[in-house]
Formats: sequence, C-alpha cells, structure tokens
Amino acid sequence: MMARLRVNGQEHVLDLPAGERLIDVLRDRLGLTGTKQGCRAGECGACTVLVDGRPMQACIMLACRVHGEVRTVEGLGERFMPLRQAFADEGGFQCGFCTPGQLMRAAALLAEAPLERLGDEAWLREQMNGNICRCTGYCGIIRALMNEDVRTLARDLRGEPAVTEGGFQA
Ligand code: FES
Ligand code: FES
Repeated sequence: MMARLRVNGQEHVLDLPAGERLIDVLRDRLGLTGTKQGCRAGECGACTVLVDGRPMQACIMLACRVHGEVRTVEGLGERFMPLRQAFADEGGFQCGFCTPGQLMRAAALLAEAPLERLGDEAWLREQMNGNICRCTGYCGIIRALMNEDVRTLARDLRGEPAVTEGGFQA
C-alpha cells in the first residue's frame, strides 16, 4: 500500500507492505541506521524515535499507521548539541548502542517536562527507565541530563531566560 511518511522534515511516499514496521522503513529503506534495533519487541528502547515530539518505539509501530512527523537521531539537529556533548562529558555511553534511543527520549523530556522536574534525579531515572543500557549503569546518563548546559538548553527550548551562576535570571 502507498504510504506518506514525514521523517526529519522530509516527506517520503513509499509502497509498503501493510505489516512493515517503522524501524525497518527507517533503517532499510531510508538508510537512517542511527535508530538501533535491540529486542524488536518494545522492551529495550533502543529504537526510540519521536512521533510528533513523543517518544515511541519504532520496532512495534506499523509504518503505514504513522501519521505524525517522525524524528530520528539524525534529525536531532545542532540545537541539541549540548545534550550530545553532555553524554560524552559525563560518561553517558560506552558502546553507544543504546545512545540514539536514550538521546531521543531525553530530547523529549527536555522539550516537555516541567523545568523543576529536570533537577530531580529520582524522577529522571523513572522517566528514562524504558531505555535499557547494558554498559554504563545509568549514572552517567542521569548526570548528563542534570548537566548545567543541558538545563540551559531546556530553558532555551521554552524561550526562558538563562539563569546565572548565582541562580538569578539574566
Ligand atoms: S528494539 Fe524496539 S524496544 Fe527494543
Ligand atoms: S552504552 Fe552500551 S548499551 Fe548503552
């Protein structure tokens, strides 16, 4: 069947079998191999992409049923560079297999979560617990999310003024 799929700002018209999964379209048809395939059963989060800004598991979505804008790690954009840098600086990955999925879930949190929640370690752990990592033990991932540059990014995404070192708004 013919399907329209909007991915990272580009529209694709594809002839797809009704049962084809979004992850296979992204990786095999569109060459977007940043989205990783782990369990292929909706359990590990490696395949997390955003659909209209919400984190979804591409391995359990039928591509022809996707109607929103899909964003993959390739489409995360320069704006999210502080997030990627924080993962590197804080030891947020080792082998990197889970990292695209972690980044996409984190990007959704940074864009939408109440700002005060982004400083709450226990809450962050809970929000990220759908994304499994076999390497890092999660501490580095949470440190990355609490990194000051990432907090600044979250404020920027909301159009809020930066907060200076002393805690005062600039
Ligand atoms: S590959 Fe999709 S959740 Fe594991
Ligand atoms: S960094 Fe290796 S699985 Fe997460």
